[in-house]
Amino acid sequence: MRIGIFGAGAMADALGTRWAAAGHELMITGRTVGKARALADKWGAHTDSFEEVAEFAEVALIAVLYQGMTSTLAQIGDALRGKVIVDCNNPVEVEHFTLVTTPGRSMAQEIERVTGGHVVKAFNLCHARVWQGTHRCSTAAALSCPTVVTIPPRWTLRAD
Ligand SMILES: NC(=O)c1ccc[n+]([C@@H]2O[C@H](COP(=O)([O-])OP(=O)(O)OC[C@H]3O[C@@H](n4cnc5c(N)ncnc54)[C@H](OP(=O)(O)O)[C@@H]3O)[C@@H](O)[C@H]2O)c1
Repeated sequence: MRIGIFGAGAMADALGTRWAAAGHELMITGRTVGKARALADKWGAHTDSFEEVAEFAEVALIAVLYQGMTSTLAQIGDALRGKVIVDCNNPVEVEHFTLVTTPGRSMAQEIERVTGGHVVKAFNLCHARVWQGTHRCSTAAALSCPTVVTIPPRWTLRAD
């Protein structure tokens, strides 16, 4: 799958590294070109403008701090319309870890409104180290990337 990654920080590194290892084709872009290039080199991938990465992507990951979201969405333009966008972001200020979004409006809704993509909220509830696969979040379970959670048999998921 062709995955376009917007943002070149810890989450891009954690998820992109696992996706590259799984054989996906990646392109990455970010505010600091050198950081995006370093990750692209690590994965054997390419970096380009926000617009080009959006054109390339079948699926996109947006992984930027909330301060950078407006400019990121503006640079992406229209090329993610109708595509799946993975939103791993937590729009919080870091001093008290409180939401910065307007009550009743989520960042996911804003991404969907601006891009016209189909937003999936994912990966935002665990630290990047968990997604790197090097950190166990309990004594019993390790999380796998991108979609599988390994659940010990004694844990049962119930609909009720
Ligand atoms: N780190 C985690 O453990 C974790 C876990 C779950 C969810 N998240 C969420 O995932 C998202 C990415 O987190 P991260 O840890 O990968 O962040 P990060 O390493 O600090 O940076 C991610 C990207 O955001 C860009 N950025 C920051 N401020 C910007 C601004 N004002 N304008 C434009 N771009 C800006 C950075 O550009 P520069 O490199 O140029 O600064 C970088 O490309 C955040 O929303 C965070 O809440 C993080």
